[in-house]
Amino acid sequence: MGKTLVSIVMGSSNDWEIMQQAAQQLKDFGVTFDARVISAHRSPDLLFDYIKKMTAEGVECFIAGAGGAAHLAGVIAGKTTLPVLGVPIPSKYLKGMDSLLSIVQMPKGIPVATFAIGEAGAANAGLFAVSMLALNDAGLATKLADYRKKQAEIIATTTLPSLS
Ligand code: RP5
Repeated sequence: MGKTLVSIVMGSSNDWEIMQQAAQQLKDFGVTFDARVISAHRSPDLLFDYIKKMTAEGVECFIAGAGGAAHLAGVIAGKTTLPVLGVPIPSKYLKGMDSLLSIVQMPKGIPVATFAIGEAGAANAGLFAVSMLALNDAGLATKLADYRKKQAEIIATTTLPSLS
């Protein structure tokens, strides 16, 4: 196992149900990752220490999932110049619209790449991290191209049921 390339952080263990989709994509592509629960407001000191440690160890991007007033991704982006991919977690009352707007509306200067609310967003954040890493990894680029090709083949061979 080489060095950890991607760090997945989420604000609560309740976010794992969604965030495991990001982890699964990375695992499927053989990308090393670290996944853990660290809250920007419940454990800010731990978060700062973690960002520092992972950055020093050579992680190449962060994927951050949070719900509600979802400032986790923005705080991470404020502490590192590495790419930060934000995943809005569905919330109980506002269904993740609060999370989405919190993550996507970063003020100019400190960007967070924001993905869709929920499972699709988490999976796509994982795939996006693979795309970034594939820029400098020919083997990974080939795997990603094959993955896309399979999706195209499924569409090309899909038939609809005939009308009765
Ligand atoms: C955020 O608050 C977490 O990302 C989570 O989505 C939300 C609610 O946290 P829990 O009350 O479920 O721990 O920090």
